[in-house]
Amino acid sequence: MLVSAKEMLNKAKAGKYAVGQFNINNLEWTKAILLTAQELNSPVILGVSEGAGKYMCGFKTVADMVKAMIGELGITVPVALHLDHGSYEGAKKCIEAGFSSIMFDGSHYPIEENIEKTKELVDICESLGLSIEAEVGAIGGEEDGVIGGGEVADPNECKMIADLGVTMLAAGIGNIHGKYPANWPGLRFDTLDAIQQLTGTMPLVLHGGTGIPADMIKKAISLGVSKINVNTECQLAFAAATRAYIEAGKDLEGKGFDPRKLLAPGVEAIKATVKEKMELFGSVGKA
Ligand code: 13P
Repeated sequence: MLVSAKEMLNKAKAGKYAVGQFNINNLEWTKAILLTAQELNSPVILGVSEGAGKYMCGFKTVADMVKAMIGELGITVPVALHLDHGSYEGAKKCIEAGFSSIMFDGSHYPIEENIEKTKELVDICESLGLSIEAEVGAIGGEEDGVIGGGEVADPNECKMIADLGVTMLAAGIGNIHGKYPANWPGLRFDTLDAIQQLTGTMPLVLHGGTGIPADMIKKAISLGVSKINVNTECQLAFAAATRAYIEAGKDLEGKGFDPRKLLAPGVEAIKATVKEKMELFGSVGKA
């Protein structure tokens, strides 16, 4: 069932667990994530970056595919379809296309402009019953050509954005997209703690879920993180399984070249990754 992310995240915050946002790239990705969520009776958020939206022939194609798949596969757990790191224009396009949730990433604007644009989108989302994520303090690393500086958010700015009525708030706490370098100093729990003290019951979002050690994930959840984004880890799992299939020469055996066979190990690898994360985040059985 396609829903806004509001209720599932408020429940997660109150219950001290987190809902996973898994980014999608195509039909296989979407199917793997939806089936795993249903099997584990877990709520789930499907993330779509602007780049992935373009790749999949536009946000309308994505929204229609996801809605149809939820129906055809008989998915009854709560599913939110969420724009990831949206621009102001991208957010408006997703609202029109039928997404149930958007992220407006105004972290690269001066705080006054971030506030102004976020507020306008909050009002639109509120009137339509959609959820909205805002960001303070750019997340480091590179994603779809968007390069963030790995900032640590100012808790007072977080409070200003939270007070605009957003559903959830992403704050930079030393997290980055993609693989973490060997000398990464870890998450800034002091900042996360300060943000939660000021923002209270607001569900906080941890981006860059790939490669964060399990103990840090658990600590982040205990300090108010209720949504954790994972993208690269599914890509790595898919690529490794596909590589193993081809290196074993299986595409050359019988009809092993059939895409339904060729892509099957990758799909299973995504399912295994999503399952592992849902278990770690504590969302299993929480649908
Ligand atoms: P990773 O690719 O590091 O898992 O980050 C995903 C993310 O934060 C999407 O917004």
